[in-house]
Amino acid sequence: MDILNKKGHLEIICGSMFSGKTEELLRRLKRAEYAKQNILTIKHQIDDRRKSTYITSHNGQERSACNVNNEQENINKILELAQDVHVIGIDEIQFFPTSIIEIICKLIEKGKRVIAAGLDLDFRGVPFGIIPTVLAIADEVTKLKAICVICGKDAHHTQRLVNGNPAKYDDPIILVGASECYQARCRNCFQIDKTAQFYLNKKTENINL
Ligand code: TMP
Ligand code: MG
Ligand code: ZN
Repeated sequence: MDILNKKGHLEIICGSMFSGKTEELLRRLKRAEYAKQNILTIKHQIDDRRKSTYITSHNGQERSACNVNNEQENINKILELAQDVHVIGIDEIQFFPTSIIEIICKLIEKGKRVIAAGLDLDFRGVPFGIIPTVLAIADEVTKLKAICVICGKDAHHTQRLVNGNPAKYDDPIILVGASECYQARCRNCFQIDKTAQFYLNKKTENINL
């Protein structure tokens, strides 16, 4: 079968931190590799938690990846890099600029299978960056859940803690880190300050207009 003569598709793996998104991405890429398909793996430069040219999961699995930043030149380069590949895996899709959406659409048109993993919500519980758009255009969405560290129920949120306290609503959205400043929490145990609640209510009002 000539995969390159058909349109491709987009798979999104989303969820909170510690839900196994990167592990699931790596699992899918590994399966494609077993089938002798060519793979391009991409990560965002912001994520410098471990080695800069690897994507790594919380359980220590890793895979070498091209490091891309927000510069348009870099984003466009993905098309070139993907020329002879069947599958493109992108980790931390929430960090990428809007311009990557056009690139993803072009890749799909060219017959590529694009698999992207990322956070659906930021620490405030608000959809993260381009996530709403990529979820809307995706062919397939997998929403993973972590386990709440407080009560053991399914965790929907990522709680950011600063010196053991819930982060402030207007803190910077991007703060790279792992269990030293983030926890998976269910809706009940997730803590959000009053300002945030006010903001969310306002948003809902606007949507209903
Ligand atoms: P992970 O989903 O692979 O665990 O990684 C998520 C990364 O995103 C991690 O470096 C922490 C970062 N992050 C933010 O920058 N802002 C946020 O609001 C949240 C929840 C995570
Ligand atoms: Mg991850
Ligand atoms: Zn809980």
